[in-house]
Amino acid sequence: MSAAFTALVLILDDAQGNLKAVPPMLEGKGKVVYAGSLDDARGALDGQTPHIALVACAAGPAEAEGRLADLGLTPGWMIAGATSSQAGDPEFLRGAMQARFNDILTIPPEAGALHEAFDNGLRHIQGPEGAKGKVVALYSGKGGTGVSTLAVNLALALNHQGGLRVGVLDLDLQCGVVASLMNLQPTQTLGKLGDVPVDDANALRDELLSRITNHESGVRVIASPPILHDGLNITAEMVGRIIKILRDRFDLLLVDTPKWVGDRLVAALDESDQILLVTEPLIPSLAKARESLRLFSRFEYPQEKVALVFNRVSKESELQPEEAAQALSRPAYFAVPEEHARLIEAANRGIPPTTDPAAKGPFAKAVAGLAEKMRADLGFGAPKPQPKKRGLLSFGRKAS
Ligand SMILES: Nc1ncnc2c1ncn2[C@@H]1O[C@H](COP(=O)(O)OP(=O)(O)OP(=O)(O)O)[C@@H](O)[C@H]1O
Ligand SMILES: [Mg+2]
Repeated sequence: MSAAFTALVLILDDAQGNLKAVPPMLEGKGKVVYAGSLDDARGALDGQTPHIALVACAAGPAEAEGRLADLGLTPGWMIAGATSSQAGDPEFLRGAMQARFNDILTIPPEAGALHEAFDNGLRHIQGPEGAKGKVVALYSGKGGTGVSTLAVNLALALNHQGGLRVGVLDLDLQCGVVASLMNLQPTQTLGKLGDVPVDDANALRDELLSRITNHESGVRVIASPPILHDGLNITAEMVGRIIKILRDRFDLLLVDTPKWVGDRLVAALDESDQILLVTEPLIPSLAKARESLRLFSRFEYPQEKVALVFNRVSKESELQPEEAAQALSRPAYFAVPEEHARLIEAANRGIPPTTDPAAKGPFAKAVAGLAEKMRADLGFGAPKPQPKKRGLLSFGRKAS
C-alpha cells in the first residue's frame, strides 16, 4: 500500500507578517514551510517544489507571481493572500487570475476559510479519491499533422464543457510544445524525473504531483522538459507509472505523443483507453496512418480502442475524409477543418482557439463537437452547463 500523500506547503509572507499565524493553523495538513523572505524560502525549500503555495499579495498579484518566479517555482496550487479591500476589487481579481493564482484568501486568514482553501487545493493536487480516470493518447505516425494542437484544444473544450478534471501530459519529451501552445512557462516539468527511482512509488508520485502546471482555464499540464537531454532517462516503465499516477488524479488525461515509435510510445499507448489516430486526407498521411493501424493490430489493440480523426480537412481537398477512411478500411471518427490563419495566430500568441468557451470558427466548433463525442463514448455523459465563471474558485470567500 502506498503511504498517504504529504503535501509540501509554502507560506510566503510579506513585510507586514500577515501570514505569521498560518503555520500552526495548518498543523496536520502537510509539511509547512514558512518564509518571510525569498532567501528564507530558498533555504527552507532546499530545491523542493511546494505542492501548494499561499503568497501574501499586499503589493499586488503580479509582484507575488514575480517572487515565485524569482524562486523558480510554479507550485501546483497557488493561493493569493489578499487584504479585504483587495479581495473585493475586480482589478485585483483579474490580476490574480492572470498571475495564475487558483484561489484567493483574505488575510490575515480566519481558520475556517484557511482550512477550506487548503482542503480545496489538496483535493485538486491529489485528484478525486479512488477515481480511475480515462486516458486518451493522440498519435500520428507523420509529423506536423496537428496532434499537439488537437491535444491542447480538446483539453480546453472538454474542460469548458464542465464536470471533468482535465490534464494534458506532454510525452513528446524531445520536441514538446504543449506549454508553448498554452503560453505557459513551467519551471517544473518532466525534466529529470528519470532520476527518481522508478520502483519508489511514493517518491515518484510526490515528484510528479509537484510538476503539474495550471493553465488559467483550469486545465492542468504536465509539460515536457525544456532541455532536451533532461527527458532522456525517462524509461518506458516510468512512462507507464506516470500515466497510472495521473489516471488517479484526473477524470480525463490527454497524452500528446511523439511520432517516433519506441518503447516509451508503446508504453503510453498500452496504458491508454483510447487512441486518437490523427491523420490528414492526404496520401502521405494516409500511408503513415495505415502503418500505424498495422502496428496497433500487431499490439492486439481492439478496433474500438483506435479512433481515426481527420485534421486539416477542407472542401478543396482532393480527398474527403469518408473516401480516405474507406481506403483505411476504418470509419472516420471525426473530421476537423483546416483554419490556417487562426491556428497560426493561436500558436504565436499561445492562445488556442478553444481558450474562449464561446469560441467561434470552424476549428473551435469542430473540436467542441469532438469533445462532446468523446465524452459520450468514454462514458462521461453530456456536457454539464458551466456555472457562470466566478473567476478564481473561491472569489468572495469571506474571512469571517
Ligand atoms: N486544423 C488545422 N488547421 C490549420 N492548421 C493546423 C490545424 N491543425 C494543426 N495546424 C497547424 O499545423 C502545424 C503542426 O501542428 P502540431 O504541432 O499540432 O502538429 P504535430 O502533429 O503535433 O507535429 P509534431 O510532429 O511536430 O509533433 C501547426 O502550425 C498548427 O498550427
Ligand atoms: Mg506535436
